[in-house]
Amino acid sequence: MSLEIELKNVALRFPKPDGCGCLTVYEGFNLEVEQGSFTVLLGPSGCGKSTLLNVINGLLRPSEVDVLNVFGKDLRQNPDLTRRMAYVFQSPRLLKWKTLRGNVVFGLRGLGVQPKEKWDELMDRYFGIVGLSDYVNYYPHQVSGGMQQRAAIVRAWVNEPRILLMDEPFSHLDEISAGELRRELIKLWSQEQPRRTIIFVTHDLSEAIHLGENILMLTKCPAQVFHAEKIDIPWPRLEGDDRIFELEKRLRRMFFEQVGIQV
Ligand SMILES: Nc1ncnc2c1ncn2[C@@H]1O[C@H](COP(=O)(O)OP(=O)(O)OP(=O)(O)O)[C@@H](O)[C@H]1O
Ligand SMILES: [Mg+2]
Repeated sequence: MSLEIELKNVALRFPKPDGCGCLTVYEGFNLEVEQGSFTVLLGPSGCGKSTLLNVINGLLRPSEVDVLNVFGKDLRQNPDLTRRMAYVFQSPRLLKWKTLRGNVVFGLRGLGVQPKEKWDELMDRYFGIVGLSDYVNYYPHQVSGGMQQRAAIVRAWVNEPRILLMDEPFSHLDEISAGELRRELIKLWSQEQPRRTIIFVTHDLSEAIHLGENILMLTKCPAQVFHAEKIDIPWPRLEGDDRIFELEKRLRRMFFEQVGIQV
């Protein structure tokens, strides 16, 4: 297995708005993500999860860093590498004057995905997988929040990114929609060969356990990985499964002991 993302010795400080020094979000932080893996970052609110995705996506420059490699190359020297990544935010962030399809086309055009003849095929496929085939000509305000988020996932997936960054994408959805989308996501990810690399951020332990191959548990900031858990329970991971129950109990306790809060 080769490394898709490698960060060594990341320091990241934000100047405090009151001018009194800096907030250290990362100090000596390391991360290794294998190609094709599904990694969940689990950490308390404000620990630096979104910040880390922004560093990986090149939106934020660390204050200091020894290694910042994506696909084995230095991101600082090769900013175009971010074109092979897609980002799904916590809210759908669709353009409200474009239909769901129009939003996806906008993304495809922006990234110059070629060949153009393939666009319809890609869109049909992914809108179909997330159950939106009948809604592609609707505007965002004409569909539910969950449907908007599905469209945002299609917009990300259709670009066929090698790396998919997902920042609490289901956190504002009702549990039924969130559960459905989690299943769709696992289906999408596990069906494709080679698998895409996914980094999924959440502060919900059950969600982390239902999705992740690997869970990285983060402390409060300055954030460090205090525990890495590899989960080899096959999907779908069902609520009544004893292994899930035991794992959740163990990780919850660990989190509470380390970070002092319930997840
Ligand atoms: N542009 C910025 N300027 C100053 N401070 C910032 C900036 N962006 C983030 N921070 C601070 O960095 C810390 C980490 O923020 P971040 O958004 O990464 O947290 P998070 O782990 O994603 O939290 P949540 O789970 O609530 O989304 C927070 O204390 C936040 O206030
Ligand atoms: Mg965040």
